[in-house]
Amino acid sequence: MAEPSFAPVVALADLRPGRMRACTIDGREVLVCHTKDGVFAVDNICTHAFARLHEGRLRGTRLVCPLHGASFDVRDGRVLQGPATEALPAHAVRVTAGRIEVALDPSAPPQPSEY
Ligand code: FES
Repeated sequence: MAEPSFAPVVALADLRPGRMRACTIDGREVLVCHTKDGVFAVDNICTHAFARLHEGRLRGTRLVCPLHGASFDVRDGRVLQGPATEALPAHAVRVTAGRIEVALDPSAPPQPSEY
């Protein structure tokens, strides 16, 4: 199987624990979250309606949507609390030479566009 393609996002030293950073990789909006359990990356667009999750809150590994309050586990994208019912696509993360890199999940569905 082909090695996934990792894109550099930010230096680990520039993303303190408890913080998150929105970025765009190959046109996909992604949110990188530094938690006490490590660094994780999920889609930055809520699966309920259209909201950017970097405008919400990160509490431990729980990411809370700013619009209707759904929450997701950033470790795997699963829904912790509705109204969202669909998991957030989660992407692979690695830290190389002090830099956080993300590889998009090739099976992630297309992101919705803003309306
Ligand atoms: S848009 Fe995120 S909970 Fe509704």
